[in-house]
Amino acid sequence: MKKLLITLAASLSLTLAASEASLSFPDDSLPALAGDELIISMQHGMQVYVNNCQGCHSLAFQRYKRTAEDLQIPENIMVSNLIMSDAKIGDLMTNNMSKKAAENWFGAAPPDLSLVARARGTHWLYNYLRGFYTDDSRPYGVNNGVFKDVGMPHALEQMQGLQAKTEKVKGLENDVAYAHADIAAANKKIEEGGNKSELNDAIAKSRKIIHDAEDEMVKLSAEGEYFTLIQKGALTTEEFDEAMADLVYFLDYIGEPIKAERKRLGVWVLLFILGFGFIAYLLKKEYWKDIH
Ligand code: HEC
Repeated sequence: MKKLLITLAASLSLTLAASEASLSFPDDSLPALAGDELIISMQHGMQVYVNNCQGCHSLAFQRYKRTAEDLQIPENIMVSNLIMSDAKIGDLMTNNMSKKAAENWFGAAPPDLSLVARARGTHWLYNYLRGFYTDDSRPYGVNNGVFKDVGMPHALEQMQGLQAKTEKVKGLENDVAYAHADIAAANKKIEEGGNKSELNDAIAKSRKIIHDAEDEMVKLSAEGEYFTLIQKGALTTEEFDEAMADLVYFLDYIGEPIKAERKRLGVWVLLFILGFGFIAYLLKKEYWKDIH
């Protein structure tokens, strides 16, 4: 029993450590949408995409025509409003950016986004797109709370405005950095033969500081106090979040165009299994009637 408890405690602390390591901000849930609301959201998401992303990113597995059909966008509207290049409705949704030139400009070529919603997940995407903040140490003056040191410029600055970490968050980050430095110093002293129990106490204290600071950051993020707008954009925060949800739902659709159809079919398959199960049950009763 004792052994079991120890194993449990160990695995719990491992998971805790893992979840701590993956702290990233913002960390908000994508609002749930379904039915017509979802279709409208994906339509709007496509508009946001072609206006803000397609210059750099391609969707090389997807054709305009299929998208028009699935998202219920009339072909003439697709052609006149959503195809920015001289591409035809039957073409793939690529762009003309040269990979080499892009690597030169950004340090990394903008990846194709056809499968990004599947690879990264919609939660990650929703927060990544809302996670750019000012950071003077970076080439474009921005960093990302979800994708550290990303090579992508803040493509949505005009819509979102510019956000920065709040003073509280910067203070907490300082505390964490000092605590990490203290732990490293204490470990070094232990190696050099210092007083182990004293130094271990100091390490435990520093760990607690880190832990508490991270808890506080999670709390600030949940309360919307992690970032603050230092320069207004064309949209309010609520409007921007909504536009990003639309964009994520559009990319989610692109990642698996058959998804809506699969879900719709799934309901019928389940109903069939239920219905057929009932018939099979009646049949069984009929067969066994004379034997019992
Ligand atoms: C000016 C060019 C440019 C624009 C515009 C742009 N991006 Fe990017 N994007 C990049 C570059 C470059 C990278 C690669 C960054 C890296 O790997 O460090 C990238 C990376 C990404 C990634 C991370 C992919 C991954 O899994 O590693 C996502 C997601 C993304 N962009 C989405 C978008 C969306 C959505 C838009 C439109 C709102 C957009 N980008 C607009 C250049 C751009």
